[in-house]
Amino acid sequence: MKNAYISRRRFLGQTALFAGAIAGFPYFARSASPNSLLQVAVVGVNGQGLSDLSEIGSHKKVKFVGFCDIDTKQFQKADEKFPHVRHFSDYREMIATLGDTCDAVQVSTPDHTHAPAAMTAMRAGKHVYCEKPLAQTVWEVRQMRLLAEKKKLITQMGNQIHSHMAYQLGARLLRDGAIGKIKEVHSYIGVSGIAYAGLTARPPEATVPEGVDWNLWIGSAPMRPYAAEAYHPFKWRSWQDFGGGALGDFGCHVLDPMFMGLALTAPTSIRAEHDSTSNELWPGPETVYYTFPGTPYTAGKEVLVTWRDGGLQPALASSFLPATLKLPKGSGGSLVIGESGAMLLPHWAKPRLFPEEKFAHYKFPDIDSHNHYHAWVDGILANQKTSDGFDYAGPLAETVQLGNIAARLPRKDLKWDAAALKFTNSPEATALVKRAFRTGWEIQPA
Ligand SMILES: NC(=O)c1ccc[n+]([C@@H]2O[C@H](COP(=O)([O-])OP(=O)(O)OC[C@H]3O[C@@H](n4cnc5c(N)ncnc54)[C@H](O)[C@@H]3O)[C@@H](O)[C@H]2O)c1
Repeated sequence: MKNAYISRRRFLGQTALFAGAIAGFPYFARSASPNSLLQVAVVGVNGQGLSDLSEIGSHKKVKFVGFCDIDTKQFQKADEKFPHVRHFSDYREMIATLGDTCDAVQVSTPDHTHAPAAMTAMRAGKHVYCEKPLAQTVWEVRQMRLLAEKKKLITQMGNQIHSHMAYQLGARLLRDGAIGKIKEVHSYIGVSGIAYAGLTARPPEATVPEGVDWNLWIGSAPMRPYAAEAYHPFKWRSWQDFGGGALGDFGCHVLDPMFMGLALTAPTSIRAEHDSTSNELWPGPETVYYTFPGTPYTAGKEVLVTWRDGGLQPALASSFLPATLKLPKGSGGSLVIGESGAMLLPHWAKPRLFPEEKFAHYKFPDIDSHNHYHAWVDGILANQKTSDGFDYAGPLAETVQLGNIAARLPRKDLKWDAAALKFTNSPEATALVKRAFRTGWEIQPA
Protein backbone atom coordinates (compact mmCIF):
# COMPACT_ATOMS: atom_id res chain seq x y z
CA MET A 1 0.00 0.00 0.00
CA LYS A 2 1.26 3.45 -0.95
CA ASN A 3 1.37 6.52 1.20
CA ALA A 4 -1.50 8.08 -0.67
CA TYR A 5 -3.64 8.35 2.41
CA ILE A 6 -6.92 10.09 2.04
CA SER A 7 -7.61 13.06 4.25
CA ARG A 8 -9.13 12.38 7.61
CA ARG A 9 -12.22 14.36 6.66
CA ARG A 10 -12.84 12.19 3.61
CA PHE A 11 -12.18 9.05 5.61
CA LEU A 12 -14.72 10.08 8.21
CA GLY A 13 -17.18 10.90 5.50
CA GLN A 14 -16.92 7.62 3.66
CA THR A 15 -16.92 5.30 6.63
CA ALA A 16 -20.38 4.73 7.96
CA LEU A 17 -19.03 3.66 11.33
CA PHE A 18 -17.51 7.09 11.80
CA ALA A 19 -20.51 9.04 10.69
CA GLY A 20 -23.60 10.24 12.45
CA ALA A 21 -23.94 13.83 13.52
CA ILE A 22 -26.93 14.03 15.79
CA ALA A 23 -28.42 17.44 16.25
CA GLY A 24 -30.03 18.64 19.42
CA PHE A 25 -28.47 16.35 22.01
CA PRO A 26 -27.37 18.13 25.18
CA TYR A 27 -23.92 16.61 24.95
CA PHE A 28 -21.80 19.46 26.12
CA ALA A 29 -23.51 22.30 27.87
CA ARG A 30 -20.58 24.67 27.50
CA SER A 31 -20.19 24.08 23.76
CA ALA A 32 -21.93 27.42 23.20
CA SER A 33 -18.60 29.12 23.88
CA PRO A 34 -15.81 28.31 21.40
CA ASN A 35 -13.26 28.80 24.20
CA SER A 36 -14.85 26.25 26.50
CA LEU A 37 -12.70 23.40 27.68
CA LEU A 38 -13.98 19.88 28.20
CA GLN A 39 -13.60 19.10 31.90
CA VAL A 40 -12.47 15.51 32.29
CA ALA A 41 -12.04 13.41 35.43
CA VAL A 42 -10.03 10.19 35.47
CA VAL A 43 -10.65 6.97 37.43
CA GLY A 44 -7.46 4.89 37.57
CA VAL A 45 -4.48 7.08 36.70
CA ASN A 46 -1.59 4.68 36.22
CA GLY A 47 -0.89 1.72 33.91
CA GLN A 48 -3.20 2.04 30.90
CA GLY A 49 -4.91 4.92 32.71
CA LEU A 50 -1.74 6.99 32.35
CA SER A 51 -1.51 6.19 28.67
CA ASP A 52 -5.20 7.07 28.18
CA LEU A 53 -5.04 10.33 30.09
CA SER A 54 -1.84 11.36 28.29
CA GLU A 55 -3.62 10.91 24.95
CA ILE A 56 -6.89 12.49 26.04
CA GLY A 57 -5.00 15.33 27.75
CA SER A 58 -3.05 16.04 24.55
CA HIS A 59 -6.28 17.43 23.05
CA LYS A 60 -6.05 21.19 23.38
CA LYS A 61 -9.68 21.45 24.48
CA VAL A 62 -9.26 19.13 27.48
CA LYS A 63 -8.77 20.24 31.05
CA PHE A 64 -8.46 17.63 33.81
CA VAL A 65 -10.54 18.41 36.89
CA GLY A 66 -10.05 15.28 38.97
CA PHE A 67 -7.72 12.31 39.30
CA CYS A 68 -9.02 9.34 41.27
CA ASP A 69 -6.93 6.38 42.36
CA ILE A 70 -7.12 3.99 45.31
CA ASP A 71 -3.32 3.94 45.58
CA THR A 72 -1.63 7.25 46.42
CA LYS A 73 1.63 6.08 44.77
CA GLN A 74 -0.06 5.94 41.39
CA PHE A 75 -0.66 9.69 41.09
CA GLN A 76 2.96 10.67 40.57
CA LYS A 77 3.29 10.23 36.80
CA ALA A 78 -0.11 11.77 36.05
CA ASP A 79 0.76 14.74 38.29
CA GLU A 80 4.06 15.25 36.47
CA LYS A 81 2.24 15.48 33.16
CA PHE A 82 -0.75 17.44 34.42
CA PRO A 83 0.07 19.24 37.67
CA HIS A 84 -2.40 20.65 40.20
CA VAL A 85 -5.30 18.33 39.40
CA ARG A 86 -7.36 17.53 42.48
CA HIS A 87 -6.93 14.01 43.93
CA PHE A 88 -9.65 11.60 45.07
CA SER A 89 -9.61 7.99 46.21
CA ASP A 90 -13.31 7.18 45.69
CA TYR A 91 -14.83 7.83 42.25
CA ARG A 92 -18.29 8.18 43.79
CA GLU A 93 -17.08 11.04 45.92
CA MET A 94 -15.18 12.57 42.99
CA ILE A 95 -18.18 12.58 40.67
CA ALA A 96 -20.50 13.94 43.38
CA THR A 97 -18.01 16.62 44.48
CA LEU A 98 -17.12 17.83 41.01
CA GLY A 99 -20.76 18.05 39.93
CA ASP A 100 -21.15 20.40 36.96
CA THR A 101 -17.44 21.18 36.92
CA CYS A 102 -16.95 17.77 35.28
CA ASP A 103 -18.29 16.94 31.81
CA ALA A 104 -16.70 13.59 31.07
CA VAL A 105 -15.00 10.67 32.79
CA GLN A 106 -12.23 8.30 31.71
CA VAL A 107 -12.46 4.85 33.35
CA SER A 108 -9.20 2.88 33.31
CA THR A 109 -9.45 0.70 36.41
CA PRO A 110 -9.32 -3.10 36.60
CA ASP A 111 -12.30 -4.56 34.75
CA HIS A 112 -14.55 -5.29 37.76
CA THR A 113 -14.71 -1.56 38.51
CA HIS A 114 -15.54 -0.44 34.96
CA ALA A 115 -19.32 -0.73 35.14
CA PRO A 116 -19.66 0.60 38.69
CA ALA A 117 -17.59 3.70 37.84
CA ALA A 118 -18.96 4.21 34.32
CA MET A 119 -22.59 3.76 35.40
CA THR A 120 -22.09 6.23 38.28
CA ALA A 121 -20.61 8.73 35.83
CA MET A 122 -23.30 8.25 33.20
CA ARG A 123 -26.12 8.50 35.73
CA ALA A 124 -24.64 11.89 36.62
CA GLY A 125 -24.77 12.82 32.92
CA LYS A 126 -21.04 12.46 32.17
CA HIS A 127 -19.72 11.24 28.84
CA VAL A 128 -17.51 8.20 29.29
CA TYR A 129 -14.33 6.77 27.79
CA CYS A 130 -14.09 3.25 29.23
CA GLU A 131 -11.29 0.79 28.77
CA LYS A 132 -11.94 -2.53 27.11
CA PRO A 133 -13.56 -4.98 27.70
CA LEU A 134 -16.20 -2.46 28.84
CA ALA A 135 -17.29 -4.52 31.84
CA GLN A 136 -16.92 -7.70 33.80
CA THR A 137 -20.17 -9.40 32.74
CA VAL A 138 -22.60 -9.48 29.84
CA TRP A 139 -25.31 -7.87 31.99
CA GLU A 140 -23.08 -4.93 32.93
CA VAL A 141 -22.05 -4.35 29.32
CA ARG A 142 -25.73 -4.33 28.34
CA GLN A 143 -26.65 -1.84 31.08
CA MET A 144 -23.79 0.45 30.05
CA ARG A 145 -24.99 0.48 26.45
CA LEU A 146 -28.60 1.11 27.47
CA LEU A 147 -27.74 3.87 29.91
CA ALA A 148 -25.49 5.67 27.42
CA GLU A 149 -28.32 5.53 24.89
CA LYS A 150 -30.94 6.67 27.39
CA LYS A 151 -28.84 9.61 28.58
CA LYS A 152 -27.68 10.46 25.03
CA LEU A 153 -24.04 10.41 26.05
CA ILE A 154 -20.93 10.26 23.89
CA THR A 155 -18.96 7.15 24.73
CA GLN A 156 -15.92 5.32 23.44
CA MET A 157 -14.41 1.96 24.36
CA GLY A 158 -10.67 1.89 25.00
CA ASN A 159 -9.69 -0.56 22.27
CA GLN A 160 -7.73 2.16 20.51
CA ILE A 161 -6.50 -0.04 17.63
CA HIS A 162 -10.07 0.25 16.35
CA SER A 163 -8.99 3.61 14.93
CA HIS A 164 -5.70 2.36 13.50
CA MET A 165 -5.29 2.03 9.76
CA ALA A 166 -4.44 -1.71 10.03
CA TYR A 167 -7.74 -2.68 11.66
CA GLN A 168 -9.80 -0.28 9.58
CA LEU A 169 -8.18 -1.65 6.43
CA GLY A 170 -8.72 -5.27 7.48
CA ALA A 171 -12.40 -4.55 8.12
CA ARG A 172 -12.73 -2.65 4.85
CA LEU A 173 -11.23 -5.53 2.84
CA LEU A 174 -13.80 -7.88 4.35
CA ARG A 175 -16.64 -5.50 3.55
CA ASP A 176 -15.30 -4.95 0.02
CA GLY A 177 -15.36 -8.71 -0.60
CA ALA A 178 -11.63 -8.82 -1.40
CA ILE A 179 -11.55 -12.54 -0.51
CA GLY A 180 -15.22 -13.19 -1.31
CA LYS A 181 -17.86 -13.99 1.24
CA ILE A 182 -16.41 -15.19 4.50
CA LYS A 183 -16.60 -18.84 5.53
CA GLU A 184 -14.50 -19.00 8.73
CA VAL A 185 -12.71 -16.70 11.14
CA HIS A 186 -9.86 -17.83 13.41
CA SER A 187 -8.70 -15.25 15.95
CA TYR A 188 -5.98 -15.87 18.48
CA ILE A 189 -3.52 -14.38 20.95
CA GLY A 190 -0.37 -15.84 22.51
CA VAL A 191 -1.01 -15.10 26.19
CA SER A 192 -3.09 -17.34 28.44
CA GLY A 193 -5.50 -16.24 31.14
CA ILE A 194 -3.78 -17.92 34.05
CA ALA A 195 -0.34 -16.55 33.17
CA TYR A 196 -0.81 -12.93 34.25
CA ALA A 197 -0.78 -13.80 37.94
CA GLY A 198 1.33 -16.94 37.56
CA LEU A 199 -0.56 -18.54 40.47
CA THR A 200 -2.73 -21.60 40.87
CA ALA A 201 -4.49 -20.65 44.11
CA ARG A 202 -4.98 -17.64 46.38
CA PRO A 203 -1.72 -16.67 48.08
CA PRO A 204 -1.58 -15.93 51.81
CA GLU A 205 -2.84 -12.65 53.18
CA ALA A 206 -0.33 -9.81 53.40
CA THR A 207 -0.32 -6.34 54.90
CA VAL A 208 -1.96 -3.81 52.65
CA PRO A 209 0.76 -1.41 51.45
CA GLU A 210 0.63 2.12 52.74
CA GLY A 211 -1.45 4.37 50.54
CA VAL A 212 -3.58 1.55 49.10
CA ASP A 213 -7.30 1.49 49.94
CA TRP A 214 -8.01 -2.22 49.56
CA ASN A 215 -11.70 -1.84 50.32
CA LEU A 216 -12.06 0.57 47.38
CA TRP A 217 -9.91 -1.63 45.11
CA ILE A 218 -12.24 -4.57 45.79
CA GLY A 219 -15.26 -2.32 45.24
CA SER A 220 -18.16 -4.34 43.83
CA ALA A 221 -16.35 -7.72 43.93
CA PRO A 222 -16.54 -10.17 46.85
CA MET A 223 -14.12 -9.08 49.60
CA ARG A 224 -10.94 -11.11 49.94
CA PRO A 225 -7.74 -10.32 51.82
CA TYR A 226 -4.98 -8.38 50.10
CA ALA A 227 -2.05 -10.48 48.91
CA ALA A 228 1.26 -9.27 47.52
CA GLU A 229 1.98 -9.72 43.79
CA ALA A 230 -1.40 -11.34 43.20
CA TYR A 231 -3.98 -8.75 42.20
CA HIS A 232 -2.96 -5.08 42.30
CA PRO A 233 -1.60 -3.88 39.97
CA PHE A 234 -2.04 -5.71 36.65
CA LYS A 235 -2.25 -9.32 37.90
CA TRP A 236 -6.01 -9.11 38.59
CA ARG A 237 -6.51 -10.20 34.93
CA SER A 238 -6.07 -13.87 35.85
CA TRP A 239 -8.86 -13.86 38.46
CA GLN A 240 -12.49 -14.47 37.58
CA ASP A 241 -13.64 -11.97 40.23
CA PHE A 242 -11.66 -9.09 38.72
CA GLY A 243 -10.59 -9.64 35.11
CA GLY A 244 -11.38 -11.65 32.02
CA GLY A 245 -8.28 -13.73 31.29
CA ALA A 246 -6.75 -13.66 27.84
CA LEU A 247 -10.09 -13.36 26.04
CA GLY A 248 -11.11 -10.46 28.29
CA ASP A 249 -7.77 -8.78 27.75
CA PHE A 250 -7.47 -9.17 23.98
CA GLY A 251 -10.87 -10.18 22.61
CA CYS A 252 -12.09 -6.60 22.20
CA HIS A 253 -8.94 -5.81 20.21
CA VAL A 254 -8.53 -8.85 17.99
CA LEU A 255 -12.23 -9.51 17.32
CA ASP A 256 -12.99 -5.83 16.67
CA PRO A 257 -12.08 -5.78 12.94
CA MET A 258 -14.14 -8.96 12.51
CA PHE A 259 -17.14 -7.19 14.04
CA MET A 260 -16.57 -4.11 11.89
CA GLY A 261 -15.85 -6.02 8.70
CA LEU A 262 -18.51 -8.69 8.93
CA ALA A 263 -21.18 -6.66 10.77
CA LEU A 264 -21.41 -9.38 13.40
CA THR A 265 -24.15 -9.02 15.97
CA ALA A 266 -24.56 -11.56 18.77
CA PRO A 267 -23.54 -15.21 18.68
CA THR A 268 -26.29 -17.79 18.90
CA SER A 269 -24.09 -20.54 20.25
CA ILE A 270 -20.82 -20.64 22.21
CA ARG A 271 -18.64 -23.53 23.30
CA ALA A 272 -15.30 -23.45 25.13
CA GLU A 273 -12.66 -26.14 25.50
CA HIS A 274 -9.74 -26.22 27.91
CA ASP A 275 -8.26 -28.39 30.65
CA SER A 276 -8.53 -26.06 33.62
CA THR A 277 -10.56 -27.04 36.68
CA SER A 278 -10.16 -23.82 38.65
CA ASN A 279 -13.28 -21.86 39.50
CA GLU A 280 -11.20 -18.85 40.55
CA LEU A 281 -8.62 -18.38 37.83
CA TRP A 282 -9.12 -18.11 34.09
CA PRO A 283 -7.82 -21.10 32.14
CA GLY A 284 -4.53 -21.67 30.38
CA PRO A 285 -4.76 -22.44 26.65
CA GLU A 286 -8.39 -22.39 25.53
CA THR A 287 -10.48 -22.53 22.37
CA VAL A 288 -13.85 -20.80 22.17
CA TYR A 289 -16.19 -21.54 19.26
CA TYR A 290 -18.76 -18.88 18.45
CA THR A 291 -21.54 -19.38 15.90
CA PHE A 292 -22.93 -16.11 14.56
CA PRO A 293 -25.88 -15.58 12.27
CA GLY A 294 -24.73 -14.96 8.70
CA THR A 295 -24.51 -11.38 7.44
CA PRO A 296 -24.28 -9.88 3.94
CA TYR A 297 -20.51 -10.44 4.19
CA THR A 298 -20.55 -14.14 5.10
CA ALA A 299 -20.97 -17.18 2.90
CA GLY A 300 -23.63 -19.11 4.74
CA LYS A 301 -26.56 -18.70 7.07
CA GLU A 302 -24.07 -18.97 9.90
CA VAL A 303 -20.42 -18.15 10.34
CA LEU A 304 -18.05 -19.82 12.78
CA VAL A 305 -15.62 -17.55 14.65
CA THR A 306 -13.02 -19.47 16.65
CA TRP A 307 -10.95 -17.86 19.42
CA ARG A 308 -7.72 -19.44 20.64
CA ASP A 309 -5.26 -18.28 23.26
CA GLY A 310 -2.37 -19.49 25.38
CA GLY A 311 -0.22 -20.42 22.39
CA LEU A 312 -2.89 -22.28 20.41
CA GLN A 313 -2.95 -21.27 16.76
CA PRO A 314 -5.26 -22.08 13.87
CA ALA A 315 -4.22 -24.78 11.42
CA LEU A 316 -3.40 -23.57 7.91
CA ALA A 317 -6.25 -25.68 6.54
CA SER A 318 -6.98 -23.72 3.39
CA SER A 319 -5.65 -24.19 -0.13
CA PHE A 320 -5.34 -20.39 -0.32
CA LEU A 321 -2.56 -20.39 2.27
CA PRO A 322 1.06 -21.34 1.56
CA ALA A 323 2.21 -24.23 3.75
CA THR A 324 5.26 -22.14 4.61
CA LEU A 325 3.20 -19.29 6.11
CA LYS A 326 4.37 -18.31 9.60
CA LEU A 327 1.58 -16.95 11.75
CA PRO A 328 2.54 -14.20 14.20
CA LYS A 329 3.08 -15.98 17.53
CA GLY A 330 2.67 -14.03 20.77
CA SER A 331 0.96 -11.04 19.25
CA GLY A 332 -1.70 -13.07 17.45
CA GLY A 333 -4.30 -11.82 15.01
CA SER A 334 -7.04 -13.20 12.79
CA LEU A 335 -6.94 -15.63 9.91
CA VAL A 336 -10.03 -15.22 7.74
CA ILE A 337 -11.03 -17.73 5.09
CA GLY A 338 -13.24 -16.49 2.29
CA GLU A 339 -14.74 -18.12 -0.79
CA SER A 340 -12.03 -16.78 -3.08
CA GLY A 341 -9.04 -16.08 -0.83
CA ALA A 342 -7.77 -15.69 2.70
CA MET A 343 -6.66 -12.76 4.84
CA LEU A 344 -4.19 -12.67 7.71
CA LEU A 345 -4.74 -9.64 9.90
CA PRO A 346 -2.01 -9.54 12.55
CA HIS A 347 -2.59 -7.79 15.87
CA TRP A 348 -1.73 -5.19 14.78
CA ALA A 349 -0.16 -4.76 11.35
CA LYS A 350 -1.28 -4.43 7.78
CA PRO A 351 -3.43 -7.27 6.47
CA ARG A 352 -2.02 -9.76 3.97
CA LEU A 353 -4.12 -11.41 1.27
CA PHE A 354 -3.65 -14.94 -0.10
CA PRO A 355 -2.88 -16.55 -2.48
CA GLU A 356 -0.12 -13.97 -2.79
CA GLU A 357 0.16 -14.34 -6.60
CA LYS A 358 -3.53 -13.58 -7.00
CA PHE A 359 -3.33 -10.41 -4.90
CA ALA A 360 0.12 -9.25 -6.06
CA HIS A 361 -1.41 -6.24 -7.83
CA TYR A 362 -4.44 -5.79 -5.63
CA LYS A 363 -5.12 -2.10 -5.02
CA PHE A 364 -5.67 -1.67 -1.29
CA PRO A 365 -8.04 1.15 -0.44
CA ASP A 366 -6.34 4.22 1.04
CA ILE A 367 -7.18 4.42 4.69
CA ASP A 368 -5.72 6.64 7.37
CA SER A 369 -5.39 6.10 11.11
CA HIS A 370 -7.03 8.59 13.40
CA ASN A 371 -6.70 9.46 17.05
CA HIS A 372 -9.13 7.26 18.97
CA TYR A 373 -8.92 9.43 22.09
CA HIS A 374 -9.35 12.75 20.35
CA ALA A 375 -12.27 11.29 18.43
CA TRP A 376 -14.09 10.91 21.75
CA VAL A 377 -13.32 14.47 22.80
CA ASP A 378 -14.23 15.82 19.35
CA GLY A 379 -17.43 13.80 19.43
CA ILE A 380 -18.48 15.40 22.70
CA LEU A 381 -17.58 18.88 21.50
CA ALA A 382 -19.44 18.43 18.22
CA ASN A 383 -22.45 16.48 19.50
CA GLN A 384 -21.40 13.64 17.22
CA LYS A 385 -21.42 9.91 17.80
CA THR A 386 -18.07 8.14 17.90
CA SER A 387 -17.23 5.04 15.88
CA ASP A 388 -16.61 2.92 18.97
CA GLY A 389 -19.39 4.12 21.25
CA PHE A 390 -21.11 1.65 23.51
CA ASP A 391 -23.77 1.08 20.84
CA TYR A 392 -21.09 -0.53 18.64
CA ALA A 393 -18.71 -1.72 21.39
CA GLY A 394 -21.47 -3.27 23.52
CA PRO A 395 -22.20 -6.30 21.32
CA LEU A 396 -18.46 -6.88 20.84
CA ALA A 397 -17.80 -6.76 24.59
CA GLU A 398 -20.86 -8.94 25.29
CA THR A 399 -19.45 -11.53 22.86
CA VAL A 400 -16.15 -11.52 24.74
CA GLN A 401 -17.88 -12.04 28.07
CA LEU A 402 -20.11 -14.77 26.60
CA GLY A 403 -16.91 -16.60 25.72
CA ASN A 404 -15.85 -16.29 29.32
CA ILE A 405 -19.16 -17.76 30.51
CA ALA A 406 -18.50 -20.72 28.20
CA ALA A 407 -14.96 -20.97 29.61
CA ARG A 408 -16.46 -21.37 33.08
CA LEU A 409 -18.69 -24.21 31.77
CA PRO A 410 -16.39 -25.95 29.29
CA ARG A 411 -17.41 -28.55 26.71
CA LYS A 412 -21.05 -27.42 26.61
CA ASP A 413 -22.84 -26.05 23.56
CA LEU A 414 -24.54 -23.01 25.04
CA LYS A 415 -27.44 -21.51 23.10
CA TRP A 416 -27.69 -17.74 23.54
CA ASP A 417 -30.75 -15.52 23.21
CA ALA A 418 -29.27 -12.01 23.13
CA ALA A 419 -32.62 -10.18 23.25
CA ALA A 420 -33.71 -12.08 26.35
CA LEU A 421 -30.21 -11.96 27.91
CA LYS A 422 -30.32 -15.68 28.65
CA PHE A 423 -29.16 -19.08 27.52
CA THR A 424 -32.04 -21.18 26.31
CA ASN A 425 -30.47 -24.53 27.27
CA SER A 426 -28.47 -23.77 30.41
CA PRO A 427 -29.77 -22.13 33.59
CA GLU A 428 -26.28 -22.42 35.07
CA ALA A 429 -24.87 -20.36 32.18
CA THR A 430 -27.69 -17.82 32.52
CA ALA A 431 -26.72 -17.49 36.19
CA LEU A 432 -23.31 -16.23 35.04
CA VAL A 433 -24.72 -13.46 32.83
CA LYS A 434 -24.74 -11.24 35.91
CA ARG A 435 -22.55 -11.38 39.02
CA ALA A 436 -23.55 -10.80 42.63
CA PHE A 437 -22.40 -7.34 43.74
CA ARG A 438 -20.91 -6.75 47.16
CA THR A 439 -23.47 -5.19 49.49
CA GLY A 440 -23.44 -1.45 49.05
CA TRP A 441 -21.95 -1.72 45.53
CA GLU A 442 -25.02 -2.89 43.63
CA ILE A 443 -25.52 -1.57 40.10
CA GLN A 444 -29.09 -0.64 39.22
CA PRO A 445 -30.28 -1.56 35.73
CA ALA A 446 -30.24 1.19 33.12
N1 LIG B 1 -6.43 -0.52 25.51
C1 LIG B 1 -5.32 -1.17 25.79
O1 LIG B 1 -4.46 -1.41 24.94
C2 LIG B 1 -5.10 -1.61 27.20
C3 LIG B 1 -3.84 -2.04 27.64
C4 LIG B 1 -3.69 -2.40 28.98
C5 LIG B 1 -4.80 -2.36 29.83
N2 LIG B 1 -6.01 -1.97 29.35
C6 LIG B 1 -7.18 -1.88 30.24
O2 LIG B 1 -6.96 -0.81 31.13
C7 LIG B 1 -7.51 -1.11 32.39
C8 LIG B 1 -6.43 -1.00 33.45
O3 LIG B 1 -5.44 -1.98 33.20
P1 LIG B 1 -3.97 -1.81 33.82
O4 LIG B 1 -3.14 -2.86 33.22
O5 LIG B 1 -3.56 -0.41 33.68
O6 LIG B 1 -4.29 -2.14 35.36
P2 LIG B 1 -3.42 -1.72 36.64
O7 LIG B 1 -3.91 -2.56 37.74
O8 LIG B 1 -1.97 -1.75 36.28
O9 LIG B 1 -3.80 -0.19 36.85
C9 LIG B 1 -5.08 0.19 37.24
C10 LIG B 1 -5.04 1.55 37.89
O10 LIG B 1 -6.34 1.78 38.44
C11 LIG B 1 -6.20 2.05 39.85
N3 LIG B 1 -7.43 1.58 40.49
C12 LIG B 1 -7.77 0.32 40.83
N4 LIG B 1 -9.02 0.30 41.36
C13 LIG B 1 -9.44 1.58 41.39
C14 LIG B 1 -10.63 2.22 41.84
N5 LIG B 1 -11.64 1.52 42.38
N6 LIG B 1 -10.73 3.55 41.72
C15 LIG B 1 -9.71 4.29 41.20
N7 LIG B 1 -8.55 3.74 40.76
C16 LIG B 1 -8.44 2.40 40.84
C17 LIG B 1 -4.93 1.34 40.25
O11 LIG B 1 -4.40 1.81 41.45
C18 LIG B 1 -4.05 1.63 39.05
O12 LIG B 1 -3.50 2.91 39.10
C19 LIG B 1 -8.11 -2.49 32.28
O13 LIG B 1 -9.46 -2.39 31.99
C20 LIG B 1 -7.40 -3.10 31.10
O14 LIG B 1 -8.18 -4.06 30.44
C21 LIG B 1 -6.16 -1.59 28.07
